[in-house]
Amino acid sequence: MGSTSTTSPYLARHLGPTAGDRSEMLQGLGFDSFQALIDAAVPNDIHAETLELPAALSEDQALDRLRAYAAENVVLKPFYGQGFHETSTPPVIRRNVLESPAWYTAYTPYQPEISQGRLEALLHFQNMVSELTGLPVAGASLLDEASAAAEAVALMARVGRKGNRVILDERLHPQVLAVAAERARTLALEVEITNASEGLVGEDLVGVVLAYPGTKGDVADIRQAIEDIHSRGGLAAVACDLLALQLLESPGTLGADVAFGSSQRFGVPLFFGGPHAAFMAVTAKLTRQLPGRVVGIARDAEGNPALRLALQTREQHIRREKATSNICTAQALLAVTATMYAIWHGADGLKRMAQRVHERACSFAAAVSGSVELAQEHFFDTVTVHTPGSAQAIVQKAEEAGYLLRAIGEDKVSVSFGESASEDDVRTLAEVFGVAAQDAQSGSCSRIPEALRRASETLTHPVFSSMHSETQMLRYLRKLSDRDLALDRTMIPLGSCTMKLNPTAGLEPISWPGFANVHPFAPEHHTKGWRHLIEELEQWLEAITGYAKVSVQPNAGSQGELAGLLAIRRYHVARGEDQRDVVLIPTSAHGTNAASAKLANMNVVVVKNDPKEGSIDLDDLDAQIEKVGDRLAGIMITYPSTHGVFEASVREVCKKIHAHGGQVYIDGANMNALAGIAKPGEFGGDVSHLNLHKTFTIPHGGGGPGVGPVCVAEHLVPFLPADPLSTDPHCPAPGDAGVPIASARYGSAGVLPISWAYIAMMGGRGLRDATAQAILNANYIAKALHEDFPVLYTGPGGLVAHECILDLRALTDATGVTATDVAKRLIDFGFHAPTLSFPVAGTLMVEPTESEDVAELNRFIEAMHTIRKEIAQIEQGNTDYEESMLRHAPFTAEIACSDEWPYAFSRSEAVYPVDTLREAKYFPPVRRLDEAYGDRNFCCTG
Ligand SMILES: Cc1ncc(COP(=O)(O)O)c(C=O)c1O
Repeated sequence: MGSTSTTSPYLARHLGPTAGDRSEMLQGLGFDSFQALIDAAVPNDIHAETLELPAALSEDQALDRLRAYAAENVVLKPFYGQGFHETSTPPVIRRNVLESPAWYTAYTPYQPEISQGRLEALLHFQNMVSELTGLPVAGASLLDEASAAAEAVALMARVGRKGNRVILDERLHPQVLAVAAERARTLALEVEITNASEGLVGEDLVGVVLAYPGTKGDVADIRQAIEDIHSRGGLAAVACDLLALQLLESPGTLGADVAFGSSQRFGVPLFFGGPHAAFMAVTAKLTRQLPGRVVGIARDAEGNPALRLALQTREQHIRREKATSNICTAQALLAVTATMYAIWHGADGLKRMAQRVHERACSFAAAVSGSVELAQEHFFDTVTVHTPGSAQAIVQKAEEAGYLLRAIGEDKVSVSFGESASEDDVRTLAEVFGVAAQDAQSGSCSRIPEALRRASETLTHPVFSSMHSETQMLRYLRKLSDRDLALDRTMIPLGSCTMKLNPTAGLEPISWPGFANVHPFAPEHHTKGWRHLIEELEQWLEAITGYAKVSVQPNAGSQGELAGLLAIRRYHVARGEDQRDVVLIPTSAHGTNAASAKLANMNVVVVKNDPKEGSIDLDDLDAQIEKVGDRLAGIMITYPSTHGVFEASVREVCKKIHAHGGQVYIDGANMNALAGIAKPGEFGGDVSHLNLHKTFTIPHGGGGPGVGPVCVAEHLVPFLPADPLSTDPHCPAPGDAGVPIASARYGSAGVLPISWAYIAMMGGRGLRDATAQAILNANYIAKALHEDFPVLYTGPGGLVAHECILDLRALTDATGVTATDVAKRLIDFGFHAPTLSFPVAGTLMVEPTESEDVAELNRFIEAMHTIRKEIAQIEQGNTDYEESMLRHAPFTAEIACSDEWPYAFSRSEAVYPVDTLREAKYFPPVRRLDEAYGDRNFCCTG
């Protein structure tokens, strides 16, 4: 295996085990080198020859290069608007949330007992959204505003009994229109784009999506349109702005069924387009239709209030193609940032801020209205001015004065005021429009229509008036993060999730103004640095995956899947093979695969996995291919499989599909077991997505951000995601082109420097060594635990890939101890549980990653051995399952110190099962969640 790069100076910092440890680990498995291990574990027919990447950089060199890229970007005062606004991240929040590993290295809160801090923060996100939108049920974030609009359309179509037409308000932001219109058309809905606030025409409507305010800033009364759609049996979704809602009456009060938007302007940098948390709230009767995750208030085994993810049975993991959406990773870290921003400013502070922003816009309007014609009478923060034939000249003049404005064609310019806009800005901007400075006066009159002025309360929850000092804020953030277990405290051995080190050298740059403060719609000559960085990253990902072209637009794995499936579908249609609409998906696949197929309006046919081997059952594959016939669009396989094995038959599977005219989608979320060793684009894939938030070290952020680049072979290149701003939403995208998938051309660009830095510092050889180490660590654990907990599936050489499934089902049958019991007991040892009951119920899937050192691996092994001994006590009849520690784990400090101790085992056995815990002990803040209670009692605010 060749590589053009020399050894990475950073590599030794990224890998957990030392060179000495590595030799011992390899020897323990009977190998003398990484290469020998790879040769044995990875089927020979998929080994890649070379990985052409530049020589690895040191941390300092990588940072220098990133500084140079940031310096190539031009940062102007952003008065552009169009869904992305100037905001200031309070330093206490930037440092203690966005830049704090206690927050950014946490995983999605599927294990609620060790996630109460981030669950509380997300609950307050829901409180905030619910109060401001005036709708009772809010979710814990969506991916961006445009895809949230698409989700709203899909929701209305699911609920709407009659009709297949949806009306999109022409006043929505262009990127929102572009994404929502194409997603609606994919679902075979007819799309009509009109000025919906002027009333609706026609029947057969599933719903309408209204803008409040419109993209040019105009605030219109949407009540008539809402009444009109309701009278036709359809639903109304309203795109809104959280700051505007401080002054505008809430969509819920106006009768909306769904409200959505972006929370970016609540303290989240522009980030050249994302990541930004979108929000959605719905009426109570739509609760079960809400896409994405919802935090619910439930209780623990003691009956104390405890939070958890609610309504999980709607999720794609479980419901696959019947899920409400394909969203898995969302924007948790950004939702937390926005929430803390609201807590920091408080209800009154936000109201004052909104008032100030509005006053600036009013001052500007007052100043220029004598000289130029305003496009609207009513607005909140954005004033659009008629500039016949001179829009570009004005934008140019503004640029020279240091401002970024939005030209709308040649005849209009929009000026959008953000949180820091000053009277000086108003004066300078008025000058840009030809008004002398002394004529610009401050204006306190309101341009919000009387009938739409907010009468309902905003942010009454006590948390939004609780924080007065920075000390309080600092301690609140620390209190919450202390409740959680994140990667900064312990290995998080979650199979399929790749919780590996996130290099600090990659994370630092994301807050640099040269990256963070760039508006996504800034002209190309302002964003050269961003474009160079992204181009280079895309090229590296092409080299790593063996595909012809990569687009980083999808902002999560789920969106990469959708983009990839749409590419397949559009490819077939472009070739006149419209009938190819069936995707084969193995039973072992991640639930998002099937959910994405549904969103691409494709039909799913399940292919069996061999129960013994775990790999795809080739006989069943043949049978299904036969049955599906010329409707075969393709197959979605995960490689290595979610069973944690390198299936030896992968090339054969790909060949069979190609032979029948289908395309092969290889889910690359497990690329951590392939990078530098094998390339899906070379061993049979036509398209893949990657999860940069796994393999390429973007942190999980407690459930997002993510980036899910879609990678395609040459013939699918034309179908890669289109730029949402180059798409005309009024007509269906041309058949030989792709469709936009996210609000901004480069999706969540803001976090791409992290993956760029990781690859730059690892080089080709480093990536290959990291992969080999990940495989070695997984096999080290598999070997050490196999006797106590049988490893369910192994591949070539009896080896696993980068993760292994521990089968507890026989133990459960024999003793009653479940995989859940073991997961909860691991908390008492200070561990986040492995992946629970996915992809096989009753099992734990362990993925240690290459970043864990031998001591940490051994600590986990010791914990699992100790747990096995506790299970043996039940097996041997010394303890009854119902009375056992396993049944009652985890144990809080409160119960450990309580005067009542109702158990047969001792307190020290419960909380200090191994001696090393005496040095550092994590106590969960709640006992085991009462799932049944939570399922029966849904409550998502409070
Ligand atoms: C195999 C696989 N595919 C797809 C996904 C979906 O990725 P995301 O959560 O970024 O949407 C995951 C996420 O866990 C995964 O493990």
